[in-house]
Amino acid sequence: MRGQGCTGHRASGDSALANACMKEASVTIRLGDIAPNFTAPTTEGNIDFHEWKKGKWAVLFSHPKDFTPVCTTELGYTAKLASEFEKRNVKVAGLSVDSVDDHKKWAKDIEETQGSRVNFPMIGDPDKKVANLYDMIHPNANDTLTVRSLFVIDPNNKVRLIITYPASTGRNFDEILRVIDSLQLTDGYKVATPVNWKHGDDVIIVPSVSNEDAKKLFPNGWEEKKPYLRLVKQPGR
Ligand code: BEZ
Repeated sequence: MRGQGCTGHRASGDSALANACMKEASVTIRLGDIAPNFTAPTTEGNIDFHEWKKGKWAVLFSHPKDFTPVCTTELGYTAKLASEFEKRNVKVAGLSVDSVDDHKKWAKDIEETQGSRVNFPMIGDPDKKVANLYDMIHPNANDTLTVRSLFVIDPNNKVRLIITYPASTGRNFDEILRVIDSLQLTDGYKVATPVNWKHGDDVIIVPSVSNEDAKKLFPNGWEEKKPYLRLVKQPGR
């Protein structure tokens, strides 16, 4: 249906297409939504997504095509970050609309050229079931391949980050780790992270925490630049 284009139904008066498009629109995933569950074949066997990530954070990311250059570098680098993801209690899964057999063949190229063995499941999605469920195909960019979508999903299966990059731009996976650090700090300590924050920099007490409560949470005090801008050393270091 996406291949027929969901933008033209008003002009064309095609009500079947309009209905299908409305149905698709209803599955738009937004921050705070529960990440839809699915079962799928992967290079590490079949998975039930929620079962597979149970109790953990997850990064679910799509790449447009196996045996392509940018994707090769992305998957190689992500594999190199395994210990960083592990430290943060995060599981990683990649996806494209290629088959698991192709993923397995391509993984050899990734190891050869990037120097890292792919150590996370690569989901095979040739029927586009998961790609459509997560709205990873943007027909006006490419109506058959996924764009570079990425979802960070928390242990309660809530979607906490969504990014969408074009096929020609490799993502910055260090930035994904940085966002996960920020999300985990917010959950653990009621702090937010300022512009260009990096691990170890001061953080911001979230506005919903009163000064009275902040005294209990941050007994060593904070720097109050404005009543709404209270800086504190990064907790939990
Ligand atoms: C790549 O991974 O290099 C790529 C994939 C699809 C389109 C453009 C680039």
